[in-house]
Amino acid sequence: MRIILIGPPGAGKGTQCQRLIELLKVPHLSTGEMLRAEVRDRTPAGLEAATYMDQGQLVPDQLIVGMVNRRLQASDCRGGCLLDGFPRTLPQAEILDDLLERRAMCVDGVIELAVPRDELVRRMLARKREDDDPEIFANRIASFEVQTAPLLDYYSRQGKLASIDGLGTADEIFERVQTAVKRFARAARGL
Ligand code: AP5
Ligand code: MG
Repeated sequence: MRIILIGPPGAGKGTQCQRLIELLKVPHLSTGEMLRAEVRDRTPAGLEAATYMDQGQLVPDQLIVGMVNRRLQASDCRGGCLLDGFPRTLPQAEILDDLLERRAMCVDGVIELAVPRDELVRRMLARKREDDDPEIFANRIASFEVQTAPLLDYYSRQGKLASIDGLGTADEIFERVQTAVKRFARAARGL
């Protein structure tokens, strides 16, 4: 299965993906992690991406799409994957649909983790990633609201969206995530 996790910064996408990979035995594709690796290795893509990430802005679509496309072609993604933080704009979502369709594949389901802003800020303050700075974090939230939130409607219209309350313990949220995944699996079997 190909499942997307969407949510604002700090919503718990990475945390829930760590649990889901155990259950589904598919690779976890986090575009944020991929970009941070490029930045660490000081590749041309990483150096370009850093100028956006340092400000809490999305990196340009073309930079991300090439990276994801290469990763999706790897043999370990044949049986499915978890997409964490991708797509994040409507053009990215349309390109993903196109890339998958060309391989006779599709997105099976999309999980939205909904978390109120005050809780996101609490989580960000408790963590110390480089972009967990109050000013950058405010930009990351704004990027989500303006550029990524419209995807919820895009996937809802396709009947693929499961919106989940992202408040509670990680285990409680994982129970909700598993319920959504079972629904996606039934839909994929045409039930
Ligand atoms: P990315 O790395 O994807 O960051 P993000 O979306 O801002 O989200 P985070 O990774 O901060 O949060 P998360 O939802 O994974 O939560 P987590 O599980 O870590 O992207 C970084 C940057 O890369 C972007 O700003 C952009 O510049 C660029 N980028 C990436 N993808 C892109 C794309 N497709 N297009 C363009 N640009 C792109 O949890 C957060 C914290 O909360 C942790 O400390 C965790 O332990 C804690 N926590 C988790 N669950 C709970 C819980 N239930 N209760 C309490 N604490 C919890
Ligand atoms: Mg993450």
